[in-house]
Amino acid sequence: MTQTPTNPRERLIVALDVPDVAQASKLVATLDDSVLFYKIGYQLAYAGGLSMAQDLIGAGKKVFIDLKLHDIGNTVASGVASIAKLGATFLTVHAYPQTMKAAVEASRGTGLKILAVTVLTSYDEADLKEAGYSLGVADLVAQRARQAQAIGIDGLVCSAEEAANLRAIVGQSLSLVTPGIRPAGSAVGDQKRVMTPARAIAAGADYLVVGRPIVAATDPKSAANAIVAEIAVAH
Ligand code: C5P
Repeated sequence: MTQTPTNPRERLIVALDVPDVAQASKLVATLDDSVLFYKIGYQLAYAGGLSMAQDLIGAGKKVFIDLKLHDIGNTVASGVASIAKLGATFLTVHAYPQTMKAAVEASRGTGLKILAVTVLTSYDEADLKEAGYSLGVADLVAQRARQAQAIGIDGLVCSAEEAANLRAIVGQSLSLVTPGIRPAGSAVGDQKRVMTPARAIAAGADYLVVGRPIVAATDPKSAANAIVAEIAVAH
């Protein structure tokens, strides 16, 4: 069963999408106690972000390493073991059966939970066809979600729009982690399918990943607190 945190603040994951550790550290200091969970992706991870992850964890924060691993099983397992040693809470892998199995096995007995990315949200039917797939987006997402569940993956990354469908497929056994969150009135940017925090929670999301609405806000701490307040009353 998924364990949705009872504290709404633990359900907000802020994406540290900034170019370097100095800017990330400044943001973390500004956000202070308003944020407990951070996501480190390609941009920061490849610019010193993994040692920053250790510092954040040492300071009592939770960290989601969003490196979307995909390689031969042995290599995935070694990578997962290293990330587990950092003390991270979540790590993403692409939802290919071999990759998911290797990651789940390597994470066993550690505190690390593995999240699978079913189909990247930038892919549409034409992109899948071009990449050699015969299934459409919805069918491939559903197939990979079932495979992830059978393999013992802890959660799925999905758009809030997909969350309700995925809940119907996987029940309560997996956590759903949703980016593409925009509080009412905030800039959409390059996201195509967005939802407010309250609607994403109502659609079945356990955790919300929020980047620009907090990172680029004039007052990031107030922006984070407003989202936590919205999560607290959503159901
Ligand atoms: O700034 P914004 O709130 O759009 O940031 C969303 C974060 O979630 C980014 O770090 C982005 O890479 C990530 N993400 C996403 N869509 C996915 C998977 C991850 O936007 N399907």
